[in-house]
Amino acid sequence: MKLFTNIGCLAQIRDADENIIRGSKMNDLPSIEKAWLAVKNGLILDFGAMSDLDRSAYTGFQEISIGNRLVLPTWVDSHTHLVFASWRAQEFEDRINGLTYEEIANRGGGILNSAKAIALASEDELFEAAMQRLDQLIKMGTGAIEIKSGYGLDLDAEMKMLRVINRIKAETQVPVKATFLGAHAFPSAYKGREQAYVDYVINDMIPAVAEAQLADYIDVFCEKGYFNIAQTEAIMDAGAAHGLKSKIHVNQFNAFGGVKACVERNAISVDHLEELNNEDVDSLVGSATIPVALPSCSFFLSIPYTPAKKLMDADLPLALASDYNPGSTPSGNMNFVVSLACIKMNMTPNAAINAATINAAAAMEISHEVGSITVGKKASFMVFEQGANTSFIPYSFGRNTISDVYINGEKYSQ
Ligand code: NIG
Ligand code: FE
Repeated sequence: MKLFTNIGCLAQIRDADENIIRGSKMNDLPSIEKAWLAVKNGLILDFGAMSDLDRSAYTGFQEISIGNRLVLPTWVDSHTHLVFASWRAQEFEDRINGLTYEEIANRGGGILNSAKAIALASEDELFEAAMQRLDQLIKMGTGAIEIKSGYGLDLDAEMKMLRVINRIKAETQVPVKATFLGAHAFPSAYKGREQAYVDYVINDMIPAVAEAQLADYIDVFCEKGYFNIAQTEAIMDAGAAHGLKSKIHVNQFNAFGGVKACVERNAISVDHLEELNNEDVDSLVGSATIPVALPSCSFFLSIPYTPAKKLMDADLPLALASDYNPGSTPSGNMNFVVSLACIKMNMTPNAAINAATINAAAAMEISHEVGSITVGKKASFMVFEQGANTSFIPYSFGRNTISDVYINGEKYSQ
């Protein structure tokens, strides 16, 4: 049991029924200046203003002074490809030398490159490497994470990736959601008979993944040259028939009706949205599907940023995630994601913080556990360096302004 006192500012405090923040309300970040926070069994027991603290109610609690610094709930990263076998720095050079991400993929690089490496890697190797990356992310403030398969592209290798993700889920201290992304790219062996791969995903992979209970969600890379609308719909429907809700890669390079198809199928989230037209926005209005922006991917590939203002003007919520993967986003640093959202997407620091905490928790259905300072949620929070306020965090891009990360009430160090 711990009593954290002298918190300079305790930000992102919410009632338990506040799970998603929309439109202009994203510009508000409720907080208490000069606050305390009590923790029991790793959960938030209570919090309030120092002026109202009744210490006699907390006898037996270890008191820890936060030294007048800013406290925020840990970041929630609702979209990553954390499990991979090797980096793809050669493609980075190829792009500098003039090739596009799509041209590299068409030459058999890209996702297929990662699939070759996964086939050769052991489960232990994949697990160790991903746990090491996750350790680095937690030190940078990530307190919950979604992880996708999608570099297997055949049943055995996809199952191998999902087993690794589930092992991470069992062993790490932060909440993890596992997403099956068998429909990430067409393996070269299926060139010219792409529908046969879609049938394989539907008839063989989805039933096996569901039977083994290895996935929380299903994902598809819905994009020109990858999975078209009809194929995406068929895979989402097959997933739904096996109890898998969807989170879909859509509108990364082209807006061609994918968002509407996802909304009609009650996708939990639609992720990327760098290309977004009015019909896409209209289809999201009134739905429960959460738009997710991945600005580090836009930065790294030099593609447009998700139009946050367009979404927020329609009173929609927006979440932010890293998209950490070896091809389009070799960084899972959520502090940088929040900086980019402010610098490149013109989001206010408060809006970006809401997008990377409470809305991101909703985008992976863990609002009851993380995403805000709320009684009963996990006591997972970041303590920032002396003098930092909420705008100083994104302003200080590229530098870690976090002094300490607490996960379930314990200082994180590994
Ligand atoms: O979200 N767009 C599809 N999938 C990943 C990239 C995967 C890769 O290049 O390895 C993404 O950007
Ligand atoms: Fe992705």
